[in-house]
Amino acid sequence: MNHFALPGGAGLDLVRYPVDPRDRLRAWDASDEYLLQHLAAAEDPLDDLAGGDGRLVVLGDRWGALTTALAAYEPVQITDSFLAQRATAENLARNGRPADAVRLLSSRDEPPARVDVLLVRVPKSLALLEDQLLRLAPAVHAGTVVVGAGMVKEIHTSTLELFERVIGPTRTSLAQRKARLIFCTPDPEVLAARAADPWPQRYAFPSDVPGSGALLAGRTVTNHAGVFSAERLDIGTRFFLEHLPVPADGHHVVDLGCGNGVLGLAASLSAPRAELTFVDESFGAVASAEETFRANAAPGAEARFVVADGAGGLARGSVDLVLNNPPFHSYQASTDATAHRMFADAKRALRPGGELWVVGNRHLGYHVRLKRLFGNCRTVAGNPKFVILRAVRGD
Ligand SMILES: C[S@@+](CC[C@H](N)C(=O)[O-])C[C@H]1O[C@@H](n2cnc3c(N)ncnc32)[C@H](O)[C@@H]1O
Repeated sequence: MNHFALPGGAGLDLVRYPVDPRDRLRAWDASDEYLLQHLAAAEDPLDDLAGGDGRLVVLGDRWGALTTALAAYEPVQITDSFLAQRATAENLARNGRPADAVRLLSSRDEPPARVDVLLVRVPKSLALLEDQLLRLAPAVHAGTVVVGAGMVKEIHTSTLELFERVIGPTRTSLAQRKARLIFCTPDPEVLAARAADPWPQRYAFPSDVPGSGALLAGRTVTNHAGVFSAERLDIGTRFFLEHLPVPADGHHVVDLGCGNGVLGLAASLSAPRAELTFVDESFGAVASAEETFRANAAPGAEARFVVADGAGGLARGSVDLVLNNPPFHSYQASTDATAHRMFADAKRALRPGGELWVVGNRHLGYHVRLKRLFGNCRTVAGNPKFVILRAVRGD
């Protein structure tokens, strides 16, 4: 199940993160295989890297399959996902690759100054691709080999236009097992004429949201590329803001899966002496939440910003209130699994009597899971699409 066959016969043992033996989902797909086959073919662009000081950059590797397979070339991996970084570290270790063979950078880190081979596992978010290509463009030169890979359904005309606009002429391979490669030839004129990076983007919070949402009216919300609902307020988040509880002074409140952090900011504005923790697995999300908070919070309001998987890193019994709008679509896992893990993490982090508040699509049936986990679950509010649920941790 975990055996990833490499061109030439060897193989790797690859897992997703968090490692779950019951997980039936593979840690790679046909586009990873296609890309590695291409690189292993006669004119291997990596040949020039061996022994030199050339720089291989792997952008957007989902679970570290490419980075682990190419560890001998000492790649720099760039990702927005903490889970992808952890998976890469895990896969390097289980395949006997030294951890220091690879430099793990986040989407917010300074990119390397020079790139000789750029491999791009096309992300779901075009915005994230745009931001990352624009950040890397100064390091790309006329001789850089740029190859992208993705499943056919992930590669759109807009994806190819983006490569053309930032780097240079672009074409695609034939499809193979529903995967495609993208070949892009850097053109110094295109690179020099590229537009400025439009990320992060900011919007003014709407003034028609009642409840705690009213505290945000007109405030500037910062969104780095790829962050959930980066261009406008999500309707589920909006509904949650209308019914958000007001924390008590001194209470520790966690915005779990914070995105741009509007839920936690609203909680802080309604109770400036509460202590906030913003958590997300996306580096861009946590950076957005931090900028949004710093620009708008009451003077002296306290907050911590944590890139992590769920609330697993928070001390047991240390939290009074968790606010959670769980992810409902992602390549990361069956998304129910992520939501359920967040609920279990939240329960562990809550003190007895502490509360988890969740907004979700009605049809997702979160109340069943919460009731089983906490032994109680009350519907605080509902509309035809969403419900807000509250579960209280017992002793
Ligand atoms: C539906 S969005 C909600 C964002 C924000 N709270 C809002 O309401 O606008 C879910 C968030 O969960 C984050 N997420 C997904 N998996 C996660 C994990 N394992 N640990 C922490 N955050 C995660 C996503 O990056 C995303 O920002």
